[in-house]
This record gives sequence, C-alpha cells and structure tokens, in this order.
Amino acid sequence: MRGIVLAGGTGSRMWPATLAISKQLIPVYDRPMIYYSICMHLMSGIRDILIISTPQDTPRFQQLLGDGSRWGISFSYAVQPEPQGVAEAFVIGSEFVGNHSSSLALGDNIFYGRGLRSLLQKASALDKGAKVLACPVDNPGQYGVVVLDKDGVVREIEEKPDIPRSDYAIPGLYFYDSTVCEKARSINCSSRGEWEITALNRIYLDEGRLSVEILEDNVAWVDAGTPEALLDASRLVERIDRHSGAKLCCPEEICWELGYIDSMQLETLAGQLRKSRYGRYLLALLHDTCAET
Ligand code: TTP
Repeated sequence: MRGIVLAGGTGSRMWPATLAISKQLIPVYDRPMIYYSICMHLMSGIRDILIISTPQDTPRFQQLLGDGSRWGISFSYAVQPEPQGVAEAFVIGSEFVGNHSSSLALGDNIFYGRGLRSLLQKASALDKGAKVLACPVDNPGQYGVVVLDKDGVVREIEEKPDIPRSDYAIPGLYFYDSTVCEKARSINCSSRGEWEITALNRIYLDEGRLSVEILEDNVAWVDAGTPEALLDASRLVERIDRHSGAKLCCPEEICWELGYIDSMQLETLAGQLRKSRYGRYLLALLHDTCAET
C-alpha cells in the first residue's frame, strides 16, 4: 500500500499564524503536526509516502523530512497549485499510487488510543473497495457525514450537510483500492469548484464497496484545524507523553521498532536532536533497551 499526506490548504481558520507557514509545519506540543499523519501511515505498515502541499510550503517539507532514508522509508513530494479539494490528491498522486492500493491522511488530523494500531492494520489490509472511519461528534454539519443502517452498513454520505442525518463524521484518514485514481479523475468538481472527497467516496458507495470502521472509545480523533483545537491537541499530547512515558506518534521510534533503522542510526538521529527533550527521549529508548538486555 502507498500513503499520501495532504498538507496544503489555506489554513484560514488559523490566520494570521498560517499566513507565512503551512499549518502542518506548526508543532503539536513538540513535533510538527505532519508527524502525526506520517505515523498513521507507518503504523499501517506503509513505507512509501507522498507529501502534497502548496508551492511555497513543499520545499519546507522537503527540508524537514528529506527523502526519508534517514528513517528507512521513502518520501516523495508533489505540489497542489491551488487548494482545489481533497480528492485531487489522487489526480496529483496518480503516478505515485500506480496500481497499488493507497491510504490518504489529512495533515491536520490526529488519532490516538490503544486500539489504533490494530484498526490501522485491519484497514490497510484492504485490497477491494474503500474504507472510511466514522466518529460520533457534536458538530457533524462541519464534516463529511456517514449515515449507517442498524447493521453498520453505509447508506449515504453527505458533505457538510445543513441538517445532518447522522452524528458520524468521517475523519481525514481513508483507505482505497487500486482503482482510486481513475475514479478521482472521473469526478465532476462541486459547485464550490473542489474535487470533493465525498464525491469520490460516493462512487464506491454506489458500487456497494464502501465500508466503514467506527471509532470506538479506544481510538480518539482530533481535527487540529483551529487555534483552540491545536492548543487542546498540544495539551493532550503533552499529557500523554508525560504520563505514559511513551511518545505518541514519534516516527523515529516507530521506524526503529519496525526494523527500518537499526539502533546505530537511531542513536545518530537522537544525537542530532540531543538538545531537546525529544532527542533525549530517543536516546533513552536505546538505553532502556540496553538495560533490558
Ligand atoms: P481543511 O482544514 O478543510 O482546510 P484548510 O487546511 O485549508 O483550513 P481552513 O479551512 O482553515 O482554511 O483541510 C483539511 C486538510 O486537507 C488540511 O490538512 C489541508 C488539506 N487540504 C489540502 O491540502 N488541499 C485541499 O485542496 C484541501 C481542501 C485541503
């Protein structure tokens, strides 16, 4: 499976903070927001990741992440000239996706919880159809909404409905089979001129091949797209880091655990960051392992 992180957009709900820099480069607690979406792909077992961003921010992501080799993975980059909708990721990324199945993560969505890894692994095993997540929220009208029947089968999906027929919002993490790019190209842009992700998902729904994974209490979702949500997310991550002693969404740690990099490389990465608590956390991972063996 291939992974795409969509990290462009205008970030207008965070202006002026995002006038000169991408929202997804701003930290959530002590690491750039995009780390959290990248980790969703890593935890899904995906090593080939395409970052799509604006013309001005793409070089900054390249500067931050490089080609991925230092984490034992691969990053590619593509530009979205204008924020013309989430589904455009599969038009821009069609060469990258090729004939693979793929997962798309929005760069400002954060997921956490004990059941997350198994949920991601299950979702990424998909090879036919599409899978979206569903999360009960207080303000479903601000999101794509999924209407389910009593057996949990998807009946309808709606984009930002005025009168939502369900409380289940669709978070920004999607899984598709290898037909996704062809389907994305067939979408007619909406009245607001966007390649709507809901239109793409509706194609799968009409084919009877859209499934849903409901986020239970053991997986939570944060859309960090407003200043308030960003602050809450930072507080939450800080609390989890501090209380559990383990970092939520630390790409270096995940790549090391998965064997993409060895302990020597982790030490090198940690050494480069040693002046920060984050770097010292990476070093401590190695020392804890030594102490255990
Ligand atoms: P949004 O939060 O809906 O849009 P935004 O980031 O531009 O913010 P605002 O509404 O405050 O202006 O986008 C969700 C995510 O998808 C976010 O990570 C940006 C990304 N995105 C793109 O990269 N390109 C797009 O065309 C769209 C619509 C979103």
